[in-house]
Amino acid sequence: MSKNDAIARRDLRHVWHPCTQMQDHEALPLIPVRRGQGVWLEDFDGKRYLDAVSSWWVNLFGHANPRINNAIKDQLDNLEHVILAGFTHEPIVELSERLVALAPKGLTRCFYADNGSAATEIALKMSLHFWRNTGKPEKTRFICLENGYHGETLGSLSVTDIPLFSATYAPLLKEHLRAPSPDCSRREEGESWESHSRRQFEGMERLLQQHHHEVAAVIIEPLVQGAAGMKMYHPIYLTLLRKACDQYGVHLIADEIAVGFGRTGTMFACEQADITPHFLCLSKGLTAGYLPMSVVMTTEAIYAAFYDRYDSLKGFLHSHSYTGNALAARAALASLDIFASDNIIENNRLLAQTMAEALAPLADHPNVLEVRQVGMIAAIELVQDRKTRAPFDWRERRGLKIFEHALANGVLLRPIGNVVYFIPPYVITHEEIRFMVSTAVNAIEAAIIAPSQGHDNSVVLP
Ligand SMILES: Cc1ncc(COP(=O)(O)O)c(C=O)c1O
Repeated sequence: MSKNDAIARRDLRHVWHPCTQMQDHEALPLIPVRRGQGVWLEDFDGKRYLDAVSSWWVNLFGHANPRINNAIKDQLDNLEHVILAGFTHEPIVELSERLVALAPKGLTRCFYADNGSAATEIALKMSLHFWRNTGKPEKTRFICLENGYHGETLGSLSVTDIPLFSATYAPLLKEHLRAPSPDCSRREEGESWESHSRRQFEGMERLLQQHHHEVAAVIIEPLVQGAAGMKMYHPIYLTLLRKACDQYGVHLIADEIAVGFGRTGTMFACEQADITPHFLCLSKGLTAGYLPMSVVMTTEAIYAAFYDRYDSLKGFLHSHSYTGNALAARAALASLDIFASDNIIENNRLLAQTMAEALAPLADHPNVLEVRQVGMIAAIELVQDRKTRAPFDWRERRGLKIFEHALANGVLLRPIGNVVYFIPPYVITHEEIRFMVSTAVNAIEAAIIAPSQGHDNSVVLP
């Protein structure tokens, strides 16, 4: 038995994997990864896979990046972790200073947690608590977007609109208000992204008009709704939304957990609309994919509403054991150093251009509804018939076929239903981009001709 098989077999005895129908692994082999280097993962048989999804959208500067490795090693010899209540440490102080300097102007306070779902819940709780502290306890509801995704703990799931993840748990979830998605793949023939996004905003404005008195905040993923299949929209939507939030006295929570740190072509997606949200949620790329950490950034005015000499219940009494972990903070600082010294945002523009060129020939493919891209996020939406927009029957598991075919040819893709997407680490080369896209195209062709032989009652998930 190969070492790969031996480890996979041991794994399946005790490990319960995330977002997985475990029975699938009776047919689908697990890939044990022995090491990572740059954009490449290597298994125990020496086979290499290009990590086209940055290991669930977290990795920015490659696996085993020497600069980040060294920063963590250095930190390890001094302080691995310390309680952040009543104590502090230099890496978290410096990280907060640097995030405040980088983030949209006015976000001066950083509250840390250890994953993205926790960050979005913190923003929801802080917003509601702010209104309570300032005499508006009736503001307890949230507006979220159709197709939105903000995590899978109960609070974050209640503002997520992906039934695959939320429907089963409906009895546990509070119902909030849902505005139409600005998703531009639904625009009419000949309509611009901007005009479609403006039109879709009308539904949001109506909800704000009707419900602002009971609404604490609107929560959105700026520019790209990732888990829904990389649905993209125009920055004008964010501009209009920020204005309307001011007009109606409602907070704006920008969940940049997936799109922050350069993914959309600017450091933060909100920059493209020149707006500052009331809360900015960051995670994933914060530590360049090394260690679990998230942060909610907010304004001085919101912070001030929790500051009180006599009433401790006015304070934000929320905590996680690993809040502000020192190793994660050092990884984040090393990542910000790379951004500062290596001209990353500029270089990403060139990489994004190469992705666009490699994908361009697909634009007229009879099974491609749309090729879309924002910065370093690109997606191909597949259909059975481009003219009628008739979808494939995805119970045929063409996504699984694409996954298997690409993997066999050295690329890790994880299609979301009928959407094949690319979110590669920023250390990818132009040559590797061409390899990644051509491998995906071959896998798509193979899946169109013959779907997977796998079971027909489940789907490959993000
Ligand atoms: C936009 C967005 N928000 C929140 C989350 C949840 O983050 P985590 O998986 O770390 O809980 C994700 C994860 O994919 C995300 O894409």
